Amino acid sequence: MVLNTIRDADLKNKRVLIRVDFNVPVKDGKVTDATRILAALPTINYILEQPGASLVVMSHFGRPKGKKNPDFSMVPVGKKFEELLGRPVKVASDVIGDEVEKEVKALKPGEVLLLENCRFYPQEEANDPEFAKTLASYGDVYVNDAFGTAHRAHASTEGVAHYLPSYAGFLIEKEVKFMAPLLENPEKPFVAIIGGSKVSSKISVLESLVKTCDTIVIGGGMAYTFLKVQGHSIGKSLVEDDYLETAKSFLSAAAAKNVKVILPVDHVCAEQFAEDAAPIEVDSIDIPENLMGMDIGPKTTAMIVDALKDAKSVVWNGPMGVFEFAAFAKGTEAVAKALAASNATTVVGGGDSVAAVNKFGLADKISHVSTGGGASLEFLEGKELPGVKALEK
Ligand code: 3PG
Repeated sequence: MVLNTIRDADLKNKRVLIRVDFNVPVKDGKVTDATRILAALPTINYILEQPGASLVVMSHFGRPKGKKNPDFSMVPVGKKFEELLGRPVKVASDVIGDEVEKEVKALKPGEVLLLENCRFYPQEEANDPEFAKTLASYGDVYVNDAFGTAHRAHASTEGVAHYLPSYAGFLIEKEVKFMAPLLENPEKPFVAIIGGSKVSSKISVLESLVKTCDTIVIGGGMAYTFLKVQGHSIGKSLVEDDYLETAKSFLSAAAAKNVKVILPVDHVCAEQFAEDAAPIEVDSIDIPENLMGMDIGPKTTAMIVDALKDAKSVVWNGPMGVFEFAAFAKGTEAVAKALAASNATTVVGGGDSVAAVNKFGLADKISHVSTGGGASLEFLEGKELPGVKALEK
C-alpha cells in the first residue's frame, strides 16, 4: 500500500483542510487523555511551518447522531488543542453555513480554525456528496490524519478526497507502516497475542493473522470458548456457545498451517464477577464448576514470555483478563511488560490493550501504540479502511 503523503504535497500559500481524530475523552469540560491530539501535532506543525499555509481542522467528537448538541461541542477539545499547539485556535461557529464560510475565508497564513463537530450533520455519516463538496471548498488540499476514524466512509474522512488533492498525514503513514507488514511480510518469528471478552469480535482478526503468524496466544474471556471446544471444564466462565464450531474450525486451520496456538493452562478465578471478588488461583486447565476465569495464571504467563523471547514481530490486541480489577490484572500487566522488554517490533492496537499499556506506564517502550480502536482491529482483519484507501497513490 503506497500512500500520497504530505511530503509529496506543495502546501506553500495553501489553505489546508485536515481531518483529525480528536474524539478524546472529556470529563467536566476537560480533556482527560490528549493522546490523539498529541499524535496529530507532527502533521499539523509541519503544515503550519510551510510558508503561507493556513489550516482548517475537522473532527468528530462522540456520537451526536446528526444533531447539534452542546454536549458534543468541539470547544473543550479546541481549548486543549490550542494549549498543546501553542498558538491560537479558533473554534468555528458551525460546520457549514455562511458564517463558517466567512470564518474560513478570513483565515490568514499561520492561522488555525477548528470546525464544530462534523457529526452535527447527518450528511457526515451518510457521506453525502454535496456536504463533502462544501467541506472540500474550505481548502486547496486535503490531508487526512484521522487513523482512528479511517474505518468510517464518512464525508470528512472519505468523501472530501474525491474533490481535492489528498494526502496522508504522518500519523496515518506511521500506523500503516507498522501494521501493514504484519499482514504482508512480518519479520519472523511473528507472535500475535489476542485477548478480550468475545470470540465474536476477535474471530476475524484471528483468521486474518493466522495467515502470517508463527504463534497465536489466545487469552481473556474469549479463551474459555476455545477451552470448552477442547473438552475442558470452564466452570462459570464466559462462553459463546454459538461460536464453538467457529472456534473449532479456527483451531483446525491453525494446526493445518503449523501455527502454534497458546491457550491458558492455568487461571486466576473468582466466585463471582466483582471488583472485590477474592482471586483464586487454579493450577490446571480445567476450572471447577463454582468458579469463573478472570485472568491467565502464572504458568500461562511464563509460556507467553517464552514465546516472545525470540520473536521479531509482535502484535497485541485485547487484554488477558479483567485488568480493570486490580486482583485480575496480573496477566495483562505481565504481557505489557514482556512486550516492553522485547527486542521485537511491537505493535499494540485496540482500545483496551492500549489502555493497559498506558495504565502500566509502558507506552513509550512499545514500537507502535495505535491510536485506532475499531480502525486498528479492522486493519488487522485485513479490511480495507476507506479513509486510507482514499489516499492511495
Ligand atoms: C474511535 O474512537 O474509535 C473513533 O473516533 C471512531 O469513533 P466511532 O466509533 O464513533 O466512529
